[in-house]
Formats: sequence, C-alpha cells, structure tokens
Amino acid sequence: MKILITAGPTREYLDPIRFLSNRSSGKMGFAIAKAAAEKGHSVTLISGPVTLDTPPNVKRIDIDSAREMLAAVQQELPEQEVLIMTAAVSDFRPRIMTHHKLKKATMPAVIEFRKNPDILKTVQPEKGNRIFVGFAAETDNIFLEATRKLNEKGLDMIVANDITQSDAGFGMDTNRVTLIYPDKEPEHLPLMSKVDLGVKLIEIIEAMREEPQPIG
Ligand code: C5P
Repeated sequence: MKILITAGPTREYLDPIRFLSNRSSGKMGFAIAKAAAEKGHSVTLISGPVTLDTPPNVKRIDIDSAREMLAAVQQELPEQEVLIMTAAVSDFRPRIMTHHKLKKATMPAVIEFRKNPDILKTVQPEKGNRIFVGFAAETDNIFLEATRKLNEKGLDMIVANDITQSDAGFGMDTNRVTLIYPDKEPEHLPLMSKVDLGVKLIEIIEAMREEPQPIG
C-alpha cells in the first residue's frame, strides 16, 4: 500500500523565533511509519519539528506550520491509498506573524489568534476509497469526543487515548488506546509500546484494505 502519515506538533510563529506549539513528540507517527516500511509498504511521512531519526525506507517531508502540513498532505494525497493523521495540529495561529523579532517594549499585551484549517476535513472530498485514520488525544468524555471527531472528519477509524494517564500519550514510549469505527464495536487495546501499537495498526489497516471499500 501507499501510506501517508503525519506526525509531531506544528509550530505557529509569532515572530522569527517565537511560536505556539504543543508537547507532541512524533513517536507514534514515526512508529507507524517504521512498522509500515518494514512490512514493505511505500511510506511518506510528513513531520513537524521533532528530534527523531527517519525510519529506513521512509520518504520524509518536514514542515513547520499547520498550513504547511495541509499543503504537503494535499500535494501527496493523490498518490496515496491510506492517510494516517497522528500529528497534533495546532488549532490556532497568531493572526499576525512579524518578520522581525518583537521587542519587549513593544510586545503586544494581547495576541490575536486565527483558526487553522482542519486538514482531515479539508481533504475529505478527495477521500474516495482511501482509508482515513485519525487520532484523538482526550482528557474528558474520551469515547464521545472521539466518536464526534470520527463522524465529523469522515474517518474509517479513530485511535482514542486518555492523555491524563501517566503511561499513555504525549511524549511517552507507551500508549493505551481504544479503536473506534463507524460500523463496528470499539476495540480496547491494552497498554503497549508505541512500536508494538504501530505494528498492530498497520495489521488492522491491511485487513481493512482487503475488505471491499465503499466508493465515496
Ligand atoms: O485536534 P483534534 O483532536 O481535532 O485531532 C483529531 C484528528 O484530526 C487527528 O487525527 C489530527 O491529526 C486531525 N487534525 C487535522 N487538522 C487539524 C486538527 C486536527 O487534520 N487542524
């Protein structure tokens, strides 16, 4: 399969050195990319700024902002059969990015934000019979929130996890997730390494690919 994966945080710059971002390490997306490449799939990995090595046989595209990630996804998607969005995309960006460093004396006390595009929603019309997988890192009402995102973004599966648990989610090497589908019972997976979860998710996507896909 041709698989497109996004990983890591995005950075939304306020000036050349200051930005809004989040704690995403990129480990989950890189683990999926490694697992997929090891199974012989053709993998493109669009990554925000992370400190991880690119897995062997993976084509990597580095971006900073959510809008750059969207442009890269739009560029690569026509070639792909699967899109897996693990990236923790910043929902907002500063309204203005200045090209000179803001001075302490003139730094505005209030910073205005604009909403970033939702990448999955934006590329939804191009889905066709591609498999789209999302991730949902939640702190409350995990099942409800993740199911809402699954439906809103038209996904075939969403991988939901509770980021209030100390052994799962942001920055950790392990994850405990629930897989939620539009038409099947949710599947609770035990605590496992992100590497093992990457292998498991690729196996699940391979099985989905073998099922007949609705033309959409
Ligand atoms: O941030 P949120 O919880 O809505 O993320 C759910 C899914 O949507 C993730 O797979 C994430 O990569 C994706 N997303 C996106 N564009 C955004 C925000 C999130 O595609 N602007």
